[in-house]
Amino acid sequence: MTASALIVAAGRGERLGSDRPKAFAVLAGRPMLEWALDALRDSPQIGEIVVALPEGYDAPDGCIGVRGGAERSHSVRAALAASTGDPILVQDAARPMLTPEIVASCLAAVAQDGVDAAIAAAPVTDTIKEAAGGDVVRTLDRSVLWAVQTPQVFRRAALEAALSQPDEVLAAATDDASLVEAAGGTVRVVPTPASNLKVTTPHDLEIAELLLRSSTR
Ligand code: CTP
Ligand code: MG
Repeated sequence: MTASALIVAAGRGERLGSDRPKAFAVLAGRPMLEWALDALRDSPQIGEIVVALPEGYDAPDGCIGVRGGAERSHSVRAALAASTGDPILVQDAARPMLTPEIVASCLAAVAQDGVDAAIAAAPVTDTIKEAAGGDVVRTLDRSVLWAVQTPQVFRRAALEAALSQPDEVLAAATDDASLVEAAGGTVRVVPTPASNLKVTTPHDLEIAELLLRSSTR
């Protein structure tokens, strides 16, 4: 079956502090959203692209637009409802370094037997410690830790079940895969380049700008 891509672009971008929603902030000469869109348009497995948008913004060319929700997961749910494909790829507009190669590797992983979701991730390189009240409680075993990104690709039934939970359960989830994990689903990590960064702060925007201007994309 043909895959659908959902891009969530409805956030305000408060930490970036731009004069417009983050997905529409200018990055290397065009709205940030357009970079991830390019990679999805260049992916032959993707049959349709649904974009969750802030109020007052129109869908980009060739995409289906929906109004985003209060929290990220609500935006994913709104986009899922407007889509028809299986599997479903979920992408943050705030990750402009997406490539057709990353899309292909996540789609290949979710097609394996017994896998409900396949998520882009990078091995953690910093040592991670848990602290309470400013004092370290323990040091985690870095060898098993992954920093999770998008895309996250799901079998449609698994994502539909995960997102059919109450609004407050969705609001507490920082990614969609955690909702599938909580339901007992199998979620596989797909190693991606560290360059698949998320633009959160003005510093991230500068790094993304340098990477995009120096690449051949
Ligand atoms: N997002 C969304 N709907 C929301 C909140 C977030 O579609 N209600 C999207 C953002 O547009 C972004 C992605 O989810 O592409 C990741 O969220 P984040 O990086 O937190 O972006 P913002 O919420 O826009 O930024 P901030 O938290 O700094 O306000
Ligand atoms: Mg946010």
